[in-house]
Amino acid sequence: MKILVVGSGAREHAICWKLKQSSKLSKLYCAPGNAGISQIAECIEIKVDKLKEIVEFSVDSKIDLVVVGPEIPLVAGLVDMLNEKGIKAFGPVKSGAKFEGSKSYSKDFMKKHSIPSARYEVYTDSEKAIGDLEKFNIPLVVKADGLAAGKGVIICETRKEAEEAIKSIMDKKQFGDAGNTVVIEEFLRGTEASLLCFVDGKNIIPMESARDYKKAYDGDKGLNTGGMGCFSPNTIFNVELNQYIKKNILDRTLKGFLAEGINFKGVLFIGLIIKNNQAKVLEYNTRFGDPETEVVLPRLKSDLIDIMLKCIEGNLSEDDLHWEDDNCVTLVLASGGYPENYEKGKEITGLNKVDDDIIIFHGGTKLYGNKTVTDGGRVLAVTAMGNTLEEARNKVYKNIPKIYFEKMQYRTDIAKF
Ligand SMILES: Nc1ncnc2c1ncn2[C@@H]1O[C@H](COP(=O)(O)OP(=O)(O)OP(=O)(O)O)[C@@H](O)[C@H]1O
Ligand SMILES: [Mg+2]
Repeated sequence: MKILVVGSGAREHAICWKLKQSSKLSKLYCAPGNAGISQIAECIEIKVDKLKEIVEFSVDSKIDLVVVGPEIPLVAGLVDMLNEKGIKAFGPVKSGAKFEGSKSYSKDFMKKHSIPSARYEVYTDSEKAIGDLEKFNIPLVVKADGLAAGKGVIICETRKEAEEAIKSIMDKKQFGDAGNTVVIEEFLRGTEASLLCFVDGKNIIPMESARDYKKAYDGDKGLNTGGMGCFSPNTIFNVELNQYIKKNILDRTLKGFLAEGINFKGVLFIGLIIKNNQAKVLEYNTRFGDPETEVVLPRLKSDLIDIMLKCIEGNLSEDDLHWEDDNCVTLVLASGGYPENYEKGKEITGLNKVDDDIIIFHGGTKLYGNKTVTDGGRVLAVTAMGNTLEEARNKVYKNIPKIYFEKMQYRTDIAKF
């Protein structure tokens, strides 16, 4: 099969790396890809939001399957456009991607189908939203409705802060049209966890669990980031909690999809907050997570092409997913200053010096002549498997001193207890 992966992060590198193991693959392309991906796939210079160009390339190159990594092309309807041309694509159609593209839509869906979640109100008028702030206890959460590159959620400790947040999202349009509508939510306390699931339209099947680290610095200090490290499995999940999630979240979500005629196929990423062995849904995303993918796919024994095709055909079963018992840890090496301002174009050295059992997934990197240079905030995801979490963690950290780029920044406490 000829496969095109859309995206350029460590998530897409991990997807390419896993697809590459399949005997069914004849040719792998990635648009636009990065320096690491270019070692295993032919990179095509098309950005992820150039939907027409992606479709044209897929038609011209007779691509059998397009795998869409990031949310932007999914929400914009890339899968619908590919399907119209008779090209198979892994990822939800526009009506499915709306669960990530509109937080108010998701919240209304959860309410309608009795899926446990935070109490909320939706506003399209900033004055009305500000006038209603008294109705919420503090802290409270203000969310831009649409896509805001992970920056559209503001946790407010005072009503004054909430007022500022509403004004900057709705009036000053800090996130453009994504802020035409806001959701205000009660603040939930507990431990966060993400659950990635394969969905084939009729079944929602969870993958192995993972735990990510959102904050920039050790001890969960600093600003929120896209994720600074991750490990799998996540020890918070147990039989009782899994049963709770299946009954109250997965089954009800599926029932809701069927009741509303939403033919969801692809990955559903459920953000959870867990307390007393019960869970509430913080959000839905409609694609693989980053860095979750970098620790989950290395543990997948089954053929990823088979799984993706079964999702598309609507006949995936739990028996199709086989997992390694091993633990997996990934550590993100970021550019100094990330998630705020940082420089790009720093030469990366030592990538070929790491031990054989280390997998380096590239995020923001590119080739500059024969050098590999930094090209984003999250640069590399350094990954290892081990019989125990500690073994995997030690393998990763032992290899970090071999890798260098100017102002490299990383956490030292990933998977450390
Ligand atoms: N109701 C809530 N109570 C407490 N914390 C919350 C709540 N809603 C969101 N958060 C916090 O804000 C973070 C981001 O929220 P959310 O997942 O809705 O936004 P997002 O921008 O879509 O994130 P992502 O980029 O992960 O998709 C959550 O991971 C959580 O830490
Ligand atoms: Mg989200």
